[in-house]
Amino acid sequence: MPIITVSGTALRFESAPGDTVLQAALRAGLPWPYECSVGACGTCRFTIEAGEARVLRENPPGLSAMDRRKNRKLACQCVAETDLSVSAKIGVDGACVPIAPRRMSAVLSGARAVTHDMTEYRFRTAQAARFLPGQYALLALPGMNEARAYSMSNVANEQGDWIFVIRNVPNGLGSRALAALEAGATIALDGPYGGAWLRTDVPREIVCIAGGSGLAPMLSIARAAAATERRLHFYYGARTAADACGRAFVAELDGFGARVRCVEAISVHDHADAAWQGETGLIHDVVARDLAGAFDAYEFYVSGPPPMIAAVLNLLAVERGVPTAQIHFDRFF
Ligand SMILES: Cc1cc2nc3c(=O)[nH]c(=O)nc-3n(C[C@H](O)[C@H](O)[C@H](O)COP(=O)(O)OP(=O)(O)OC[C@H]3O[C@@H](n4cnc5c(N)ncnc54)[C@H](O)[C@@H]3O)c2cc1C
Ligand code: FES
Repeated sequence: MPIITVSGTALRFESAPGDTVLQAALRAGLPWPYECSVGACGTCRFTIEAGEARVLRENPPGLSAMDRRKNRKLACQCVAETDLSVSAKIGVDGACVPIAPRRMSAVLSGARAVTHDMTEYRFRTAQAARFLPGQYALLALPGMNEARAYSMSNVANEQGDWIFVIRNVPNGLGSRALAALEAGATIALDGPYGGAWLRTDVPREIVCIAGGSGLAPMLSIARAAAATERRLHFYYGARTAADACGRAFVAELDGFGARVRCVEAISVHDHADAAWQGETGLIHDVVARDLAGAFDAYEFYVSGPPPMIAAVLNLLAVERGVPTAQIHFDRFF
């Protein structure tokens, strides 16, 4: 197996067949900075100083023109073909996964429609499902060369249940491959990944903000948090009333209506949604007018599409002065 050496450090790790440089580093327990695992965010950038690597995704959005000129690569998109010597900022301002990810076989044990375009998929592995609330897994689906990232909506368990809430993206390859799976089908599941997990050592009240398909990891965090005594404010932003499915999940949690509250908002309000009684507007505007007191008294967890995350980060960090260490987010590229 190729050995990857980080120049200027004593760090060396092996790369198993098919693993990206990022996966090999994380499996070895090294806190290589990363976020999305799919070539979109650019956080895992590095440089190869010696050796050969196969690149999975040509022109990934996570590399700028400047990065390409400087011959930078993405660790989540490179597979070592020989021993490598690399230059990378390991352990510097990056999220690290406290549970090393592993690749397992997972069997589809059930699926149910949540809305007209969101489905809850349940997979089971022979091994216990070990992950922190808010993390995601990479699913390798039939007929696809690249895995897709999906966040778990449940919490860790010994039975090996991994539950996802996934939006059916029109003409999306992963969406199509998932919809075609029949109960009992086996896929490869690799995880856990992600740094936006629930901090249990922080006593602050929790705020979860989810937009659209960003529901799953916020549900995982809410489910774990509801089992404690901490107060939880859950905000879910959907497009129309037909998409608003967050409240139904949160209403099932212990403490709902007392220390757990949910505010659901729709951004498109027309005559078809005349019966809608919840909030209207974009979810960051709803949080701005609804959440009481100084925002730096809260711990924030946020997930959803990149424009929604950008708007929420602007509200929290720029307008309301929340320290970035109190904001944990996943952009769903
Ligand atoms: C950390 C994270 C967590 C996510 N969690 C959820 C979730 O819980 N629920 C949910 O509905 N969605 C989630 N997503 C979004 C999901 O991964 C897919 O982007 C989305 O479902 C559309 O995929 P698709 O294959 O159907 O569409 P497509 O249009 O076929 O693919 C779109 C996405 O796939 C990825 N992609 C495209 N080409 C490549 C390639 N060559 N190599 C690698 N990746 C590629 C890119 O991220 C791209 O945005 C998450 C994304 C990320 C990054
Ligand atoms: S580009 Fe590699 S982790 Fe996002």
